Amino acid sequence: MKTLREYIKEAEEKGVAIGHFNISNLETLHGIYAGVKKYSDEVGVQTPFVIGVSEGEEEFVGREEVSALVSAIRDTDHYPIFLNADHHYSFESVQKSIDAGYDSVIIDAVKLPLEENIALTKKCVEYAKEKSKNTGRDILVEAELGFIGQSSKLIDAVPEGVSEATMTSPIEAKSFVEATGIDMLAPSVGNVHGMVKGGNPAIHPERIKEIRTQAGVPLVLHGGSGITEEGFVSAIKAGISIVHINTELRVAYRNALQKELTENKNEIAPYKFGVKAVEAVRDVVYEKLKVFNTQ
Ligand code: 13P
Repeated sequence: MKTLREYIKEAEEKGVAIGHFNISNLETLHGIYAGVKKYSDEVGVQTPFVIGVSEGEEEFVGREEVSALVSAIRDTDHYPIFLNADHHYSFESVQKSIDAGYDSVIIDAVKLPLEENIALTKKCVEYAKEKSKNTGRDILVEAELGFIGQSSKLIDAVPEGVSEATMTSPIEAKSFVEATGIDMLAPSVGNVHGMVKGGNPAIHPERIKEIRTQAGVPLVLHGGSGITEEGFVSAIKAGISIVHINTELRVAYRNALQKELTENKNEIAPYKFGVKAVEAVRDVVYEKLKVFNTQ
């Protein structure tokens, strides 16, 4: 099976993006995988995808457990599924996820002064390189440059500190990549984590293009929920290779579960009252993959 690095290269060559979907329970994983398989069956090829867990999600689902779940799908079904440590904030937590078998990690030191951000990111890159060398794996390290907010939830307004003026500068992206040796960069290009009630801000494809050229590494679009279809297509054409979706999965899961629990008050078997929630997650993923693979 190809490595995540190879799949990313392939996606970029084709002008499409790989979906990164967050989970914090087994049902969401099943829903995501069902959506990926539905899309893959339709197009007749396996669609690579990434499962992400933030520190909070990882704590809830279990670090070793989520790694075992993803490996089970990869090894049993021979399916290109990968696991990412999404937004990890310390070297220790990055190290533990790498040791648990994750394929990629995101060290998010965006709130630290630049010098400290660079030093911490570099330390994570060195650890991933060393571990890759010793194990034959190819562990990727991603970092974020430019604040885009922090929570995958419904928000009233664009988070404080996010504006056109604070978008990632292409020149800074270049020096950050050179100073840290990261494999992928998550820029601020109009995207925000979460869904803004009045609509998410517009994406800036021109800025994405400039950052991709200067940075020289694949780019990851965080904060995918709430971005329009046109926004995604233009962002992917401009140089985005992976798109993160979380809030929309949470909303779909919760709404479907709530409806089911309200309508079937006497049902107590989780494998029965959870079915609609799994299907709701599947449908979100299927729709996103159609957009991410528009050529
Ligand atoms: P959304 O919650 O906006 O989809 O963002 C998800 C994300 O970027 C996770 O890293």
